[in-house]
Amino acid sequence: MTTILVTGGAGYIGSHAAVELLESGYEIVVIDNLSNSSMESIKRIKEIAGKNFPFYECDLLDVECVENVFNTHKIDSVMHFAGLKAVGESVTIPLKYYQNNITGTINLCEVMIKHNIKKLVFSSSATVYGNPDKVPVEESFSLSATNPYGRTKLMIEYILQDLYFADSSWRIALLRYFNPIGAHESGKIGENPNGIPNNLMPYISQVAIGKMEKLFVFGNDYETHDGTGVRDFIHVVDLVKGHLKALEYLENHEGVEAFNLGTGKGYSVLDLVKTFEDVTSKRIPYKIVERRKGDIGVCYANPQKAEKKLGWRAEKDLNDMCKDTWNWQLNNPNGYRN
Ligand code: NAD
Ligand code: UFG
Repeated sequence: MTTILVTGGAGYIGSHAAVELLESGYEIVVIDNLSNSSMESIKRIKEIAGKNFPFYECDLLDVECVENVFNTHKIDSVMHFAGLKAVGESVTIPLKYYQNNITGTINLCEVMIKHNIKKLVFSSSATVYGNPDKVPVEESFSLSATNPYGRTKLMIEYILQDLYFADSSWRIALLRYFNPIGAHESGKIGENPNGIPNNLMPYISQVAIGKMEKLFVFGNDYETHDGTGVRDFIHVVDLVKGHLKALEYLENHEGVEAFNLGTGKGYSVLDLVKTFEDVTSKRIPYKIVERRKGDIGVCYANPQKAEKKLGWRAEKDLNDMCKDTWNWQLNNPNGYRN
C-alpha cells in the first residue's frame, strides 16, 4: 500500500486532493497547523471518502513534530500544499511569508532526506510567470515575481531544483496552478476564506448568498473582449486529479519538472459573473472600480505539456465550476463554521 503525506491537507486544495487520493486507493497521512483551516474539513474528507486516516496538527516550522510523523508512518511520497497564500498580506508582512513558506519547505525536505524519501509534488503557481509577454503561457517562459508571496513560490522552485542538482535521485513535480475554483460535487468541502475574500469566485458566491452587497470589478480597460481581466479558471477537482497523474509520472521519471495545470481557456471577470448568474439564477450586482494594484490583464495556460507527459487534461467547464461553488456555498453559508 502506497502512503502519501499531504501537507496542508485541511485547506481548500489539499482537502480535495485527500479525497481523490483516498478514493483512488492510496493511504494518506495529513499534517496541517490549521492556521487557515479547521478540523471540520478533516471530518468532511473522512465522510466523503468513507475512510479514516491519521491527522496531525503540526506546523512545518516545528521540525520535531514533522520528524515524529515520518518516524511513525512509512511515507512513500509527499504532496506539499501547506503555505500562506494571500498576496496582499505578503506585501505587508513579507518575513512571515518567507519564514512560513520557505523555511517550512526546507524543514520538510530535510526530514524527507533523513528518511530517504525523494518524491515530491509541490504546489506552485502561475504567479511565477510574473506579467507574461504573451499567452498562452508555456512552462519554458521566463520566470519572475511581483510580490513576496510569488517570490516564495519562485524561490522554492529554485531550491527544489538545487536539491535535484545535488542528488539526482529526487523526483519532483512543480505544479503551476492557474485559477482554481469550484468545490467537491458533494458540497461538503470547498473554499472557506477568512473575512472578506481576496479572490473573485468566493467574492461572487458571497454576493449571491447575501453576505456582500456587490462585487467590485477591478478595471474594465484591459485589452480583453470586455475590458475586464481574463484568467484560466480550473475546477479544483480537475486540478487535484493532475496531482495524482504527477505522482504516477514520478514513479518512472527522475528529475524536476514543471507543469502548467490550467484549462487553456481564458474567461473574463464578467464572463464568470454571467455564467454564475445563468447557472444559479442569482443576480450579481457589480460596480466597475479602479484596477487592483499588481494585477495583470490576461493569463491563461498552454496545458499541452501536462496532457502529453502526464496524460492529464481538465474536463470540467465554467458551468460545472459555478454550479459546484454555489452548491458548497448554499450548503455552508458560513463555511466550516456552521
Ligand atoms: P489553503 O490556505 O486553503 O490551504 C493551505 C493549508 O496549509 C491551510 O490549511 C493552512 O492551515 C496550512 N498551512 C499553512 N502554513 C502551514 C505550516 N507552516 N505548517 C502546516 N500547515 C500549514 O490554500 P489552498 O488554496 O488550498 O492552497 C494550497 C497551496 O496551493 C498553497 O501552497 C498555495 O500557495 C498554492 N496555490 C493556491 C492557489 C489558489 O488560488 N488557491 C493558486 C496557486 C497556488
Ligand atoms: N477581481 C475582481 N474583483 C474581486 C476579485 C478579483 O474584479 O473582488 C478580478 C481581478 O482583478 C482579476 C480576476 O478577478 O482580474 C482574478 O482575480 P483573483 O484574485 O481571483 O485571482 P488572481 O489571478 O489575481 O490570483 C490568483 C491567486 C494567486 C495566484 C494566481 C495564479 O490569488 O495567488 O491566481 O495562480 F498566484
